[in-house]
Amino acid sequence: MKKRKILVTSALPYANGHIHIGHLVEYLQTDIWVRFQKLRGHDCRYFCADDTHGTAIMLRAQKEGKPETEIINAMQCSHEQDFAAMEIAFDNYSSTNSEENREICTIIWNGVRKSGIIEEREIEQLYDETAQTFLADRFVRGTCPKCKAENQYGDNCEKCGATYSPTDLINPVSSVSGTTPVMKKSLHLFVDVEKEHKFLDEWTAKSGALQPEVSNYLAGQFLNEPLRPWDVSRPAPYFGFEIPDSPGNYWYVWFDAPIGYIGSTLDWCRKTGEDFDSWWHDPNTEVYHFIGKDIAYFHTLFWPTMLKLGGFSLPTKVHVHGFLTVNGEKMSKRNGTFVLASNYYKHLSPSYLRYYYASKLTNRNEDIDLNLDEFENKVNADLVGKVVNLASRTAKFVHECGLSKTYPDDGGLFPKAAESGDEIAEAYEQIDLARAMRLVMECADRANKFIDDYAPWILKNDPTKQSQLQDICTIGLNLFRQLVIYLAPVLPTLARQTEELLNTPIKHWDDSKTPLTGTPVAQFTHLMTRVPRKGIEAMIEDSKEIDAAVPDAVADATKTWSDSAETLTAEPLVEEKISIDDFVKVDLRIARVIDAKEVPEARKLLQLTLSLGGGERRNVFAGIKSAYKPEDLIGRLVVCVANLAPRQMKFGLSEGMVVATGLGGSDIFLISPDDGAKPGMKLH
Ligand code: 2FM
Ligand code: ZN
Repeated sequence: MKKRKILVTSALPYANGHIHIGHLVEYLQTDIWVRFQKLRGHDCRYFCADDTHGTAIMLRAQKEGKPETEIINAMQCSHEQDFAAMEIAFDNYSSTNSEENREICTIIWNGVRKSGIIEEREIEQLYDETAQTFLADRFVRGTCPKCKAENQYGDNCEKCGATYSPTDLINPVSSVSGTTPVMKKSLHLFVDVEKEHKFLDEWTAKSGALQPEVSNYLAGQFLNEPLRPWDVSRPAPYFGFEIPDSPGNYWYVWFDAPIGYIGSTLDWCRKTGEDFDSWWHDPNTEVYHFIGKDIAYFHTLFWPTMLKLGGFSLPTKVHVHGFLTVNGEKMSKRNGTFVLASNYYKHLSPSYLRYYYASKLTNRNEDIDLNLDEFENKVNADLVGKVVNLASRTAKFVHECGLSKTYPDDGGLFPKAAESGDEIAEAYEQIDLARAMRLVMECADRANKFIDDYAPWILKNDPTKQSQLQDICTIGLNLFRQLVIYLAPVLPTLARQTEELLNTPIKHWDDSKTPLTGTPVAQFTHLMTRVPRKGIEAMIEDSKEIDAAVPDAVADATKTWSDSAETLTAEPLVEEKISIDDFVKVDLRIARVIDAKEVPEARKLLQLTLSLGGGERRNVFAGIKSAYKPEDLIGRLVVCVANLAPRQMKFGLSEGMVVATGLGGSDIFLISPDDGAKPGMKLH
């Protein structure tokens, strides 16, 4: 098979919110597809980045009195932590606020300029004089000009459904400062996409890049009339990149966001020495974008136009998926179904959701429903009941003898499942994960019937049947391994565990075509447990209380200790006794490190920004530089003395203290709470 070069992206998450289970539909779908392509031996790379620019981040930075970069860095750290915990593995994860992205924006901008389709004109918009900013539609509220309903958004009325421009609102009020905005003129730059109408007609209908329902939607909603010019600039102040040939104007966030796909590739090429042109300027390289249906028109009208005029490859596929509902309804904070990724993986294994979403996602863009009862039943029935159960009913009987030296007669089961592998691969290739999962479960049903019929747990009691027992288990474990290979893109952890169990790596999809023989079988340990109902309930309960806090660090589950080492480091208990009243004077709080920096002039200090929840922050200088790197601290929880009188130091004001132990040097250990504690909680 020819080795393909495939560049894959998911939509870049905004830097003003955390990853939730709705976002995960896309990242999991993409990650599974990328892992599949890698297992097929293709040079497939998955790029993403945080989408960082725009008014929302600028206003938040103003409100919190911090630079924008501080906010976007903390959020990126949290996003990356969530992705890693859900086993979503990017080849590179970057930021749209990077020099690489600015470079590519400039190249594309120059191409668009050169084509002569940029026009400049003044427009009049609502302006908040107090906050000194133009107001995007969602930052203005007022009375609907049509039905007179009060407190409606600047672009549409929730009561009567009317759409209008914010300048039509009666009594508009800025949501930023609460004052009445004024009308103000400013220069804007527009891309006259209508000039590319013919190209877009062709590309959207005939290139094969789009699902038929998407082509039809574009033809019926946008391409059936002249395309309106696209406003790609915002006047200062704006958090973004200044347009090089239009000082004082910035590229609108939606201009530089998709360019982040290319910026992230460039960043990766510079880090790895890969050839950038072979990824974005080679017609043999396939480019796949995975997106949600809300942003389809950006990716199918503006984006191909920018790529064409900038001289970059057009997408091979823009794959559009549907939205997520939970128990048949929109995700809701009140019902506890607005579940942050961090809240999901705090209570439940990533494998469960990876499999459940895979079993629901077809290559169409209809919405999918996470029904929590079905989630529990399906994962238990399929993964625990059918897949893992094959290993748990066989592996322990061949731990001593290993697999049979030659593959026994299995009545054609292995070759049949090997043949199904081609059909399963085709379903993955078509991004029809639901079909792939159905086909895998059909193989699992056949394998389980075989084990039921030969019942190794009965054979084991008959000393004359030990060789047959070995053969039956050899067959069972080979059929199990085939399933695991087919599921490896969805369940990477199960694939790793199976490699260990059967002492053989899974390197390629085609490993499913040859049975293993004669290999040792490791001691069987549980591969997967049933979905804990309590975990689902706790996740829903916790989701009723979510705030914007950065999620908990992924817990390190592998703790080891030794009694003797403990006694060696214990210090004598010599402090004088204190009363409980003395103790409660010390206000010890859980805090999250949201930023950590070196203090170049100080040998021992790191400067930490701690969040104590509820918007409370502390700047703390901590003498832990010899034991911790700043980047390793961001996102973790610590214990902080919150009422320590502030102390002026040479480098700034220290407003507290983090609690640590150890002898100094590299022997310093920060104290952190068990899972579940949140910033601001008091230590009693
Ligand atoms: O809709 C969103 O969440 C955007 N941040 C997606 C950007 S995708 C791409 F254009 F970068
Ligand atoms: Zn109305």
